[in-house]
Amino acid sequence: MSANRSLLILPGDGIGPEVMAQVGRVIDWMERRRGVRFEVTEDLVGGAAIDKHGTPLHDDTMAAAQEVDAVLLGAVGGPKWDELPFEQKPERGLLRLRKEMDLFANLRPALCFDALVEASTLKPEIVSGLDIMIVRELTGGVYFGEPRGVETLPDGQERGINTQVYTTSEIERVAAVAFELARKRQNRVTSCEKANVMESGVLWRRVVQKLHDADFADVELSHMYADNAAMQLVRNPKQFDVIVTDNLFGDILSDEAAMLTGSLGMLPSASLGAADATGRRKALFEPVHGSAPDIAGKRVANPLATILSFAMALRYSFDLGEEADLMEAAVQKVLATGMRTADIMQAGKAKVSTDVMGDSLLMEMDKLD
Ligand code: NAI
Ligand code: MG
Repeated sequence: MSANRSLLILPGDGIGPEVMAQVGRVIDWMERRRGVRFEVTEDLVGGAAIDKHGTPLHDDTMAAAQEVDAVLLGAVGGPKWDELPFEQKPERGLLRLRKEMDLFANLRPALCFDALVEASTLKPEIVSGLDIMIVRELTGGVYFGEPRGVETLPDGQERGINTQVYTTSEIERVAAVAFELARKRQNRVTSCEKANVMESGVLWRRVVQKLHDADFADVELSHMYADNAAMQLVRNPKQFDVIVTDNLFGDILSDEAAMLTGSLGMLPSASLGAADATGRRKALFEPVHGSAPDIAGKRVANPLATILSFAMALRYSFDLGEEADLMEAAVQKVLATGMRTADIMQAGKAKVSTDVMGDSLLMEMDKLD
């Protein structure tokens, strides 16, 4: 990691710039209060880039993303660009970033904030204190495997085809991320596949076990069929620490786990690529939510998902775990005071704007510092 902590900020479209403005205030706070400086560059992505450059991600922006320690993205897309052909849509900018940075490990935490326990659809004792990290393989599997397509058979029927494909190295590199994360958490990894019915799952299980035995024997590893994992997540989610799984199962299990605890407006994510010689991984951090065109410009969006994504950047790209802890503790405090944006509205709580949520967060950070 370079000493100057380079960060590329891509606010994007819709509520993206509104929630990112609150992160800007946190960055200023870090310099003012903790002497932690970031070298920030801001650029366009998605519809904003289409309007200016005619492409959802300019080559210069792509090149900058490859160079920095971390990229922080708001959200892309909106009705203004809905009629564009698939290849030119705002979303292609995000897909290009993920692909060219080779971000193969998608980290989706499912964290239950104390103040939101009652907002969960599950019983408080099931979700209170919940802290799961799902590591989803992001660049392989059935979403990318060949052959794929829809073909017409001689009898006139159509046949749709997708293929689940994984190589040893694809499995090893994502499993290594999961084991490394587990060591900094509760040291437990659950690997999910369907080895009972899929050959690719048999390979997945064998490769994960072998990597474990060779390099991560200190981490507690168990294997679980993905359908059972889906059930266990709603039955007793606290049994999990880190879950590692393929692209398809990860897509579903990460959405399921996230919804145990909160609203879209609260959910951060990280996508990591290969480590360089110094151990630094390419990384993109972004909220799970989209550009929310229905509320864009109204200054009511919840900035916490993006703020928590920045906290993940501090932890995973900048080795600033203490600052990340402080931010997460401040989020707990803000929620405990009863502040709610519309997306997490509960009876009897104060409904606040994006800016007021940002104000309160900084106030709590001041107190905790
Ligand atoms: P969305 O996540 O933008 O919105 C879904 C619902 O959740 C909306 O009612 C929205 O108001 C609400 N919501 C989302 N984030 C919120 C926040 N921070 N605070 C308060 N409420 C929030 O998903 P939707 O509506 O399916 O897509 C809208 C646009 O966003 C589309 O153009 C879509 O392609 C794009 N999109 C972009 C993503 C990204 O940039 N990673 C991910 C998902 C969608
Ligand atoms: Mg999904």
